[in-house]
Amino acid sequence: MAITVAPDLRAEFPTLEREGIVYLDSGATSQTPRPVLAAMEDYYTHHRASVHRGVYAVAAEATDLFEGARHRIARFVGAEARNTVFTRNATEALNLVARGVAGPGDRVVLTEMEHHSNLVPWQMTGAELLWVGLDAEGRLDLDQLYGYLEAGGVKAVALTHVSNVLGTINPVAEIAARARAAGALTVVDGTQAVPRLAVDVVELGCDFYVWTGHKAYGPTGVGVLHGRREALEALPPLIGGGHMIASVTKDGPRFAEVPTKFEAGTSAIAEVIGLGAAVDWLGAIGLDTVRAHELELTAYALEQLSTLEGVSIDGPPTAEERGGLVSFTVDGVHPHDVAEIIGSRGVCVRAGHHCAQVLMAVLGHQATTRASFSVHNTKEDVDALVAGILRVQEVFA
Ligand SMILES: Cc1ncc(COP(=O)(O)O)c(C=O)c1O
Repeated sequence: MAITVAPDLRAEFPTLEREGIVYLDSGATSQTPRPVLAAMEDYYTHHRASVHRGVYAVAAEATDLFEGARHRIARFVGAEARNTVFTRNATEALNLVARGVAGPGDRVVLTEMEHHSNLVPWQMTGAELLWVGLDAEGRLDLDQLYGYLEAGGVKAVALTHVSNVLGTINPVAEIAARARAAGALTVVDGTQAVPRLAVDVVELGCDFYVWTGHKAYGPTGVGVLHGRREALEALPPLIGGGHMIASVTKDGPRFAEVPTKFEAGTSAIAEVIGLGAAVDWLGAIGLDTVRAHELELTAYALEQLSTLEGVSIDGPPTAEERGGLVSFTVDGVHPHDVAEIIGSRGVCVRAGHHCAQVLMAVLGHQATTRASFSVHNTKEDVDALVAGILRVQEVFA
């Protein structure tokens, strides 16, 4: 099957004009396509003003651009703008939810594959954490998860939609339905899912769904939280200050409605506008096309890497069960050395614990090397990765 999306799209990313770069690190942060840069420049060049507060024309234009972006960003994942909150990143959104939902005496179900962003905030609540383990191929132990729910008293289930290390796609809709039936909230970290899969947060049936702009072809500095209206209304704000109040007296504040009550201070205006352009751009390509492309590349990478002796791949064996990323280890070589040697050949991959130290301990690794795919990648990029690994093995032979 021919890859249809990649060749033209590479030209959309200015950084990739640099000679000899094979960018296989979109799981860490994606490249920024030109329309996103243009939208941000347009705001700074023609409509620079604060939003919501101004009564003059430029401020009204800025507000329209900002709130228009909120509508399109919400629609992109099947949510409503009024239930869509902007934060600094996914981490901040998950802190907001964890702090608001759980405290000492509560029971929260977490999985062993969580990024620290969806793990440390829950640890900081003082709640009792119930861990869902994994099978040998990196899938959740659903019997264990449902056992926790059946035992009762669970306040929330927090899980990632797509693992940033294993690639595993978790059955979020099924889990959310089971959690709801057991009276528990479901909090989903969709950071690695939104750029790769068609997501509809209402269909998924979760209470909170979080993602981050900079991995979804948008700028850094903006994260997104979608929630069920009642769940958002019940959640206290994390940060107080300007904009998030309806009124203030010496006795205290009366908070504004959702989403305003969560957006204290001046928003990341240009970034939200940029993210609006990113979802337009990604939507025009189509998530089905993106998924088909990443499936093909992931299947090819799994096939090629599994032919290499001394290379072990973590996570499910088939591309269908994964988002577009592959973590691996090379026998006898530290993942940082792997990434450094591959990197010296222009191939950009990530090495380390990927902010998933609990998972690393479960896998018995200190670290792994990860290649992650995006719309601009080609099979030749995977070939460059494989050639790089062969070179690593030569160096360490
Ligand atoms: C699965 C997952 N969740 C959360 C995050 C945190 O995203 P951010 O740093 O934008 O808050 C990441 C980033 O690596 C991630 O991969």
